Amino acid sequence: MLPPLLRWIIVLLFLRWIHGVKFMLMHTNDMHAWFDPISAKGGKCQPVDDEQGQCFGGFGRVATALEKARNSGPTIYLNAGDTFQGTPWFSVYGGKMVAELLNMLAPDAMALGVHEFDDGVPKLIEFLELVNFPVVSGTLNLTHEPKLAACAKLMEYKILNLNETLIGVVGYIRSDTKQRTQPNNVIYKREISSINKITKILIQNNVNIIIALGHSGYQADMDIAMHCPDVDIVVGGQSHTFLYSGRVPDKDVSEGPYPTIVIKPDGRKVLVLQAYAYTKYLGKINLEFDSGGNLIYFNGNPILLDNTFQPRQDIQEYLEKYRQVIKDMENHVVGTTTVFLNGDRKSCGLGECNFGNIIADSFVYARVLETMSDRSSWTDASIGIINAGAIRASIEPGETGAITEADVVMVLPLSQELFYTRISGAQLMRAFEHSAYLRSTDNTGGFLQVSGLRLKFNYSHPKGQRITEIKALCSSCQIPHYENVIPENYYGVVLTSFLLHGGEGYNFIDSRKPTVQNLSILDRMAVIRYLQEHKVIYPEREGRIMMQERVYHSSSGRRGLVSAILFATFLYLASKL
Ligand SMILES: *[C@@H]1O[C@H](CO)[C@@H](O)[C@H](O)[C@H]1NC(C)=O
Ligand SMILES: *[C@@H]1O[C@H](CO)[C@@H](O)[C@H](O)[C@H]1NC(C)=O
Ligand SMILES: *[C@@H]1O[C@H](CO)[C@@H](O)[C@H](O)[C@H]1NC(C)=O
Ligand SMILES: *[C@@H]1O[C@H](CO)[C@@H](O)[C@H](O)[C@H]1NC(C)=O
Repeated sequence: MLPPLLRWIIVLLFLRWIHGVKFMLMHTNDMHAWFDPISAKGGKCQPVDDEQGQCFGGFGRVATALEKARNSGPTIYLNAGDTFQGTPWFSVYGGKMVAELLNMLAPDAMALGVHEFDDGVPKLIEFLELVNFPVVSGTLNLTHEPKLAACAKLMEYKILNLNETLIGVVGYIRSDTKQRTQPNNVIYKREISSINKITKILIQNNVNIIIALGHSGYQADMDIAMHCPDVDIVVGGQSHTFLYSGRVPDKDVSEGPYPTIVIKPDGRKVLVLQAYAYTKYLGKINLEFDSGGNLIYFNGNPILLDNTFQPRQDIQEYLEKYRQVIKDMENHVVGTTTVFLNGDRKSCGLGECNFGNIIADSFVYARVLETMSDRSSWTDASIGIINAGAIRASIEPGETGAITEADVVMVLPLSQELFYTRISGAQLMRAFEHSAYLRSTDNTGGFLQVSGLRLKFNYSHPKGQRITEIKALCSSCQIPHYENVIPENYYGVVLTSFLLHGGEGYNFIDSRKPTVQNLSILDRMAVIRYLQEHKVIYPEREGRIMMQERVYHSSSGRRGLVSAILFATFLYLASKL
């Protein structure tokens, strides 16, 4: 006969075996420095609106909701990256404030997002030295960034111990991150093969519950779920995907069920999770695994963080300490617009947008002011260029049309310096062929907005031959006018450091005779100066970039017609956004 104590232990072990482990998984992604709540329209929340329940999220509410979950049972909170960048808070206080506020939310692990690289590797290291939670990224080769590799808080994976159950969390990030952020020497490896190498190590260490946590977008998350045999749950981000099952609690349109279930080739179910962005929702799912690490129960949906959640006091007090600088920016009027300044990616990534026009104009203006003492020509750079992805917001004219410094920071938060470069017409054309190509991919952030150029693209032509017309404003002329770009002639261009340094795969440096100058001004300062000196603006879409779309010659002519109408409707809607 066994002693009673031992019998009890056996019973408990048995119960544990049949019950396995239960916990609540909470997750956020793409918080983008929305420490304060966000309005229903996706902008700054006015206090009146907040009282009326018209604002959502903010770190204070996330903290309250997390605390509630943690008090109710075993909970894991994961952050899938891109907490950097998006509000004046970040532009002013950078990663240091993100680190301090994330420490207050105390994630069990966080994955690196693309924007965590925005201020360069040295600033990322500062962030990593301040956080007191693990940051996972299992798809980086840091051979050429030894200082980053040496950060104790940065690791490929983390094994969490939840009441004696081991849970492995493996990080990943888009393999094309290099083209999307400031220059660095990190090598970004493919997600699936890198994750599979790591999960083998985890399985050998008896970790049989594995969560992939990362930042590659919903589509890639589903591929990971399908092709990483040891992964049970994928917590993703980057694509700001709103997943929800059942009736949605606000106006957001669900892009898929929550959780999205992917069935692996062996018949096992993998859950793919994401919770939109900007702290509006907190992902929440109850999970149960048996002792073999098999998922046996799940149930959840993202929680809408409305004003039924009282922001946690310590977070609010922290923000108040630093708020004055932000308030000053919000009160600093730099110009006036009488029209909507459209910076929406759906518009600026697919064609000319009026905000892109005026930003590019402000670059040319910055150069004109800088070179005014040279009276031999009106400028040496009549062309300004910015990619759609650098334009991060629109501006509504509102009641007064006032544009504040904070508005401009929201639109151009990336703190990019402007550069002058001199390149041949042929090189300029190659750049715009690349822009036309990117527009036809899912990477429309690489599409170029222009000043001093007139372009026509014909999408019936193959890749690399789509420019049917390219004219540039003459610079060494008494009265500026447009002339055909000659491949052998040279042209001065003002653009951002990102584009100059090969962002999105561009090449704007002449290989034989590189001529590059630093304008010593940030992109947003160029815009602010332009606004201050032009006082009232009303930029238009004026045919700087014209698209000739593919004509469909299908046997059933109707299908082509329908596509054309759909596309025209789409362009129309996009232009209204
Ligand atoms: C990392 O990259 C370097 C340089 O390309 C290469 O030599 C090395 O083998 C890579 N390391 C791993 C672990 O893949
Ligand atoms: C931890 O495990 C023990 C034994 O399996 C169980 O009784 C207890 O409730 C668990 N604690 C939590 C917080 O789940
Ligand atoms: C675009 O190119 C196609 C194929 O060369 C041609 O048939 C069509 O007329 C062109 N469209 C325009 C608007 O020039
Ligand atoms: C450009 O000039 C600014 C201001 O003088 C300086 O801080 C910055 O480091 C320069 N950038 C480069 C890439 O030379």
